[in-house]
Amino acid sequence: MTEHAIPVADIPDGGARVLDGPDPADPGTIVTRTGSRVTAFRNDCPHAHLPLDLIPGRVMARDGRHLLCANHGALFRTTDGLCVRGPCRGRRLTRLGVAVADGLARITPDPRSPAGARQSS
Ligand code: FES
Repeated sequence: MTEHAIPVADIPDGGARVLDGPDPADPGTIVTRTGSRVTAFRNDCPHAHLPLDLIPGRVMARDGRHLLCANHGALFRTTDGLCVRGPCRGRRLTRLGVAVADGLARITPDPRSPAGARQSS
């Protein structure tokens, strides 16, 4: 997994961004934001271990509240990655570490980092 740094302002409030890594074998990272809270997940659906987005970068469901896996329709909460509908209901996206400082969100593979960290300024 590639480490990323992204300005919090570049993540749509109430939405998500998909960050690709330089390695084509890396499924990428999904970053979500609700106000000042930033959360990140591996772009790897627990159902069939495919990236959620069939159209690159499009992971938000039409309801604007969930992440959608376009492969078979699973819906995940943006806050904790829990699948609430679909073939992997009850399972979760793999959460990544997030640390926010000075308006920049740093995403690391270490889930012990303060995931869902709040923006500090
Ligand atoms: S691969 Fe995501 S729902 Fe099947």
